[in-house]
Order: sequence, then structure tokens, then C-alpha cells
Amino acid sequence: MRNNDTRMEGGARKVVEVVRGRATSDGAGVRLTRVIGGPQLADLDPFLLLDEFRSDDANDYIGGFPNHPHRGFETVTYMLAGNMRHGDNQGNVGLLKPGSVQWMTAGRGIVHSEMPQQDNGLMWGFQLWVNLPAADKMTAPRYQDIPPEKIPEVKSKAARVRVIAGKFAGIEGPVQGIATEPVYLDVHLDANGSFETPLPSGHNAFVYVYQGEVSCEGTQLGRGELGVLGAGDRVRFSANEKARAILVAGRPLNEPIARYGPFVMNTQDQIRQAVDDYQAGRF
Ligand code: CO
Repeated sequence: MRNNDTRMEGGARKVVEVVRGRATSDGAGVRLTRVIGGPQLADLDPFLLLDEFRSDDANDYIGGFPNHPHRGFETVTYMLAGNMRHGDNQGNVGLLKPGSVQWMTAGRGIVHSEMPQQDNGLMWGFQLWVNLPAADKMTAPRYQDIPPEKIPEVKSKAARVRVIAGKFAGIEGPVQGIATEPVYLDVHLDANGSFETPLPSGHNAFVYVYQGEVSCEGTQLGRGELGVLGAGDRVRFSANEKARAILVAGRPLNEPIARYGPFVMNTQDQIRQAVDDYQAGRF
């Protein structure tokens, strides 16, 4: 037990802040909504960024994300619809298809691309950036590519929960060995559905509604709204109509963040080193 942890108290977590994403573009002109990592919510330790991309207009996504570097953190891509091809400078390739997740630990550095494998139809998903502890920032790059059928689905009367990372109802998600001990659940509620789970009280947590509307301890969250969750040891929410949301939690690192584009380190010197290493082809 950590006595200095203000979240070490029981009860259901309430929404303490509601954040709406803002429209932006990244990569080669991919239009997306940035929910974490923008001016409203710069970060939620250990989470550095959350983007939702959703469009059925190919002009919004066809440029994709051509070769670009990362160092010092993890990128997590969760696809709801559409297909992306992933490739990197180590020769790794993979297809990200609907319902799949890629948990990439960039560590000391990779150069990769994420390109659409379709020129029409819906492309929909999330990218989350998860920080690495100072001690792991220069670790060897690692991938966990999880196909849809490897993500357990727990069904209850009016809910279906896909367990990507962490545990729900005793079922463990396939993503393993992540320093911040993340929980990542995709919760599908039917009409009048409800959801409840214990959550480590020391973790920072948020719920992001991507379809319909959910009610969390008296706060209504509409589509595209993120609720930052306050103190407590469990989370519960419900919906009158069909709704979907992701619930994400992680152990905060409480370490300094030095951030420059695709590099997230602890000091400015380390950022300069990252830029030097990348420009010299050392990734
Ligand atoms: Co990337």
C-alpha cells in the first residue's frame, strides 16, 4: 500500500473532467480527432496522446502515415473498421484489420509507416500513446500484434466487453509485460446496458465514448467525449440506448516529460540526442 496515494480510497470513480477532442490532421494529411495530447488535455500520465480517426471519405485517410520515427514510448493502434498495413525499418510487416490491436513498444527507436489498404469505405480506430518509464526508454523495440480472434470477449446480459489489456471478470487480455500495467477495455452496451469493474485505485483512468451516450455516476458523456475519472477503486457506467466506449487506465509514472513530435523523453538533452540519432540514421 502506498500511503501517499490520494486515489487510495474506495468507491466508484466519478467523472472529474469532460474533454472534447479537436479536429486536426497528422501523417500525410490524415484527418483525425485529437482527444489527449492537445491543448485541452496535454497528457494524462502515463497517456500522452489519444487520436480517433473515423471517416468513410478516402480523401481523409488515403495519405496514411508514411515513414516516421518514434522513441521513448509505446503506440497502441486499435482498429474498429478498415485495414492498415504496418511496416518498419527492421523489416517487420503486419496487417491491422478490424478488431485487431497493435501494441508497439518503440523503445530506443523505430522508423515505421502505417498505410491504408483500401481506397474506399470506412476507416475507424484509435491510436493511444503510452509513456515508458525512464529506465525503459532505450529498450529494444517490441511488437505485440494481436488479431481480433485473440482478444477475449466477455458477455453479460446487456454488455459485451473486449479485453485488450488488463483484466475484466477474471479474464486477462492478450497484451502482456507493459510497464504501466494498463487496462484497455472496449465496452459495448445494449439498450439499458450497464458495466462495472474494479480498477486499481492508483491508476489514472478515462472513458471515451465513441458511439451513443453513457452515464457515469451522474455525468452524461456523449459521442466524442472523454471523461477523466477521479478517485476510487471501481468504475461503473450505463446507457439507455446502445453505446460503445473504451475504458483505459494505467499506472502514472510521475517522471518529467520532454516531448518533441514523435520523441518523448525525460530531458531536453535526450530529445536533442534522439533528433541527432534519427538524422544520422541510427534508429
Ligand atoms: Co507511428
